Amino acid sequence: MQLIDGKATATAIKAEIAEEVKQIVANGGKQPHLAAVLVGHDGGSETYVKNKVLACEACGFKSTLIRYEADITEEELLACVDKLNKDEDVDGFIVQLPLPKHIDEQKIIEAIDYRKDVDGFHPINVGRMAIGLPCFISATPLGIITLLKRYGIETSGKKCVILGRSNIVGKPMAQLMMQKQYGDATVTVCHSRSQTLKEECREADIIIAAIGKPNFVTADMVKDGAVIVDVGTTRVPDATRKSGFRLNGDVDFENVAPKCSYITPVPGGVGPMTICSLMKNTLAAGKKEYYK
Ligand code: GUN
Repeated sequence: MQLIDGKATATAIKAEIAEEVKQIVANGGKQPHLAAVLVGHDGGSETYVKNKVLACEACGFKSTLIRYEADITEEELLACVDKLNKDEDVDGFIVQLPLPKHIDEQKIIEAIDYRKDVDGFHPINVGRMAIGLPCFISATPLGIITLLKRYGIETSGKKCVILGRSNIVGKPMAQLMMQKQYGDATVTVCHSRSQTLKEECREADIIIAAIGKPNFVTADMVKDGAVIVDVGTTRVPDATRKSGFRLNGDVDFENVAPKCSYITPVPGGVGPMTICSLMKNTLAAGKKEYYK
């Protein structure tokens, strides 16, 4: 069994990005600039956004954090998006999700200029990704594809089962694993209503678990030599930690790991790669790689 070290891979990629940024700036080019909008004080979102700002520093990017209280109106948030769309210094920006209930998330996503949508959530980017055109690909699926590639894991023609059908992970992951230029695999998507989920998993060469249920994937669901990618990051109370919680993956790591050829840990697997992919997208935005 080989552990897939997302933390080390992300650190290496951020160093590569920093090197490229140094070259760009030395040649008189513009330092990439990422802006992040954070609404309210959700613990998870605070951590994610803090880590995104730190990653910008590691990559040599400029970053701007815009904070609002949870009672901001939808109109005010739309005005902020409009301002960022028009700000010529900002190459890309994200609005951290989830948003408070009184704000229509989809409306906010669709208000973002797709050329600055480094999250890859705008329907134009989602659609272009689905038909294999150059675009911003959402960070978690892109991070997983990058990990599989960097570890030289063969995916072409393999049987890949994806657990979960979210817009952020499951659906784009299925698209990418299916496409010839990325996974080139045979893909099955299972979700909470799937009647043959366990059977599908048992036949899978690769399982990508993104359902948000701690320890859902057990050893009896995994065939010998399978590749396991764990996207789960559920906060589980843990009195022994200073924070009072620990992150728990969707996979029963202790019992599943011995059966695998490769497995990602939680934390230190997919998580760091997600932020690293956002940095890749921001670099591409700065270079106007996909859109003028
Ligand atoms: N919330 C959870 N994941 C993400 C992400 O990748 N981007 C944004 N904007 N919000 C999130």
